[in-house]
Amino acid sequence: MAAPRGTGPGLLLLLLHGCTVTAVELYSSNTNPEVQEFQRVELSCVIKHTNTDNPRIEWKKIRNGETSYVYFDNIIQGDLKNRAEIKGGISLVIHNASRTDNGRYRCEVAAAEDQKRFAEITFNLTVTVKPVIPQCRVPKAVPVGKSAVLHCQENEGYPSSVYRWYRNSDALPDDSKSNPKFLNSSFTLNTSTGTLVFSTVNKGDMGQYHCIASNAAGSARCEAQLLEVYDLNIGGIVGGILVVVLVLVLITVGICCAYRKGYFANSRPNGQSYKNASKTDGVNYLRTSDEGDFRHKSSFVI
Ligand SMILES: *[C@@H]1O[C@H](CO)[C@@H](O)[C@H](O)[C@H]1NC(C)=O
Ligand SMILES: *[C@@H]1O[C@H](CO)[C@@H](O)[C@H](O)[C@H]1NC(C)=O
Ligand SMILES: *[C@@H]1O[C@H](CO)[C@@H](O)[C@H](O)[C@H]1NC(C)=O
Repeated sequence: MAAPRGTGPGLLLLLLHGCTVTAVELYSSNTNPEVQEFQRVELSCVIKHTNTDNPRIEWKKIRNGETSYVYFDNIIQGDLKNRAEIKGGISLVIHNASRTDNGRYRCEVAAAEDQKRFAEITFNLTVTVKPVIPQCRVPKAVPVGKSAVLHCQENEGYPSSVYRWYRNSDALPDDSKSNPKFLNSSFTLNTSTGTLVFSTVNKGDMGQYHCIASNAAGSARCEAQLLEVYDLNIGGIVGGILVVVLVLVLITVGICCAYRKGYFANSRPNGQSYKNASKTDGVNYLRTSDEGDFRHKSSFVI
């Protein structure tokens, strides 16, 4: 080559590149198509310019580093066989996209008479999948002041679902501190794991909880479940225990006194003195007539 050493290779590349461009030139309206599963998607590949009459067209799929043919020898190959077609002589149309269609695709066009004169466009196809109904777990009843964890998850959605919890149809923020409406609550929500954590549960946290999983393809919610919050009233419990203890003590003392008195009375040799002994404590004794006392005694004797 006569070109100066320093600029030679660059100039050559530029010239070759120019040649390639003039041989086949491709165009696409969208190289990052996104489609919902089971929908139709078009990977638009258009020949903008060519100076060859009979270009060779191929489509390849690149997934996890492996390249496979999608369109070769004028036939749709492999997995897409009955679900795809070539439109306008070159664009790839998938009629019923599957989640397995995710990946990169390459449209390659070469001049039939000179395989070195070719062009290509790489596509990144995203097939989104709607979330399914998430599995939700809500504790049934939690005492005031304790912690509680609510779970929400589903594994079908693509891209991965994000989660939002609702209390009585109010959306809960990621952090209760961020919204004055939830001033009396203390929780944090991890929107990517679906976990709602209450560090301490308050009375106001009682309610119907449900969760919605969503992504670009759609959303799904679980049935609302009731979270009950009950008072674990320490003062009341201690008070209750004290009352019970007091009653037990009183009963014990009462039984002791009665037993002692009874014991003294029974140690006397006859029942009559027992009567008198017991009567000595009675306030009514002084009012009781001798007659009444006598009658009682006589009846006892009889
Ligand atoms: C699309 O494919 C799914 C299975 O992958 C099938 O159940 C469904 O019937 C197909 N839909 C159409 C319109 O062909
Ligand atoms: C393809 O697109 C998706 C979402 O649009 C992106 O997450 C991913 O990184 C892209 N992959 C490549 C290889 O560009
Ligand atoms: C928080 O609790 C206080 C006292 O119980 C109550 O007056 C107030 O209305 C509550 N605030 C909210 C936002 O629920």
